[in-house]
Amino acid sequence: MKYLYVIIVSLGFMLTSCSSNKVKIGLMLPVENERWIKDRDIILAKAKLLDVEVIVTNANLSASLEIEQTQQLIDQGVDVLLVIAVNKNTGAAIVRIAHENNVKVIAYDRFIQNCDLDYFVSFDNVKVGTLMAQYATKYVPEGKYYLLGGDKSDQNAVWMKQGWAGIIDPYIKSGKIKVVYDTYIEDWARDNAYHAIDQYLELSSNDVPDVILSAYDGLSYGAIDALNANNALKYPLITGQDAELKACQNIVNGTQAMTIYKPLKILADRAVELAIQCAKNQDIKLTGNTLYNGQKDVPSFLIDPISLDKTNMKSTVVADGFLKEEDIYNSK
Ligand code: GAL
Repeated sequence: MKYLYVIIVSLGFMLTSCSSNKVKIGLMLPVENERWIKDRDIILAKAKLLDVEVIVTNANLSASLEIEQTQQLIDQGVDVLLVIAVNKNTGAAIVRIAHENNVKVIAYDRFIQNCDLDYFVSFDNVKVGTLMAQYATKYVPEGKYYLLGGDKSDQNAVWMKQGWAGIIDPYIKSGKIKVVYDTYIEDWARDNAYHAIDQYLELSSNDVPDVILSAYDGLSYGAIDALNANNALKYPLITGQDAELKACQNIVNGTQAMTIYKPLKILADRAVELAIQCAKNQDIKLTGNTLYNGQKDVPSFLIDPISLDKTNMKSTVVADGFLKEEDIYNSK
């Protein structure tokens, strides 16, 4: 029970007897970081508005704990699961357990492979990579590129690299871009990114690359720490993802060039609406994509990500209320 906690969303004036009829959604977080806490809070707000209950779990990066939590949520009577899988492969066990109990599963922002997954709601993750690489090649069309990918057990990290490749491959073929290192970073962890860049700088006698294509803001912090620790003589162009507060501060201060902003409210609101439809066994028509997960074409709802640098900070994250202007600009 250590990692399991319960958040009950209910209107204070409702009688307890009525609340038992409410739709109950299980929201399974892979870990509590800035990104997933934001998603969680928007989901809870939307659930409150629509008068449904949400039970939240945190797997603390453990794929096996996340599987155990599935049964615990089912025992607590959830009608539907919103799953952010720690691992795209072992996540199939979550879907199997849920289906054995007639509970539908919506993969929330992370795809789950080789199973009878019901729905997938996310962003266009190939486009996330495309936007990063387009930005980098616009400003640095020639030079040494270090590819700092996410966790490879997360399909988003793989899709993102496809997006990078689509843009940089022609530059590599023409000899303009040289990829000096290409890696995935376990758990999307800042410390692991630090060690990867630190080791590269040591082995290359501090030959700082011109670009670090970083898949996530947390990895970018690790890269910046390693550059500082090695007294690097220049900052490469560093990308990122998630528009975390610290990343936006780094962008306006110049140590990170850009990040990818994902308007989470669109995703979270859509996910809650879809979850309620699943719980009520309503007829669902998702217009748009399906994505093949190795077993079936999964009906998918994909949102466009946005490229963010210092020029559009105010018109995007600030205008949307995603971050506060004073927090971004008063960080020195
Ligand atoms: C990915 C997600 C990214 C980032 C990363 C680390 O699945 O697409 O936006 O949050 O996880 O949490």
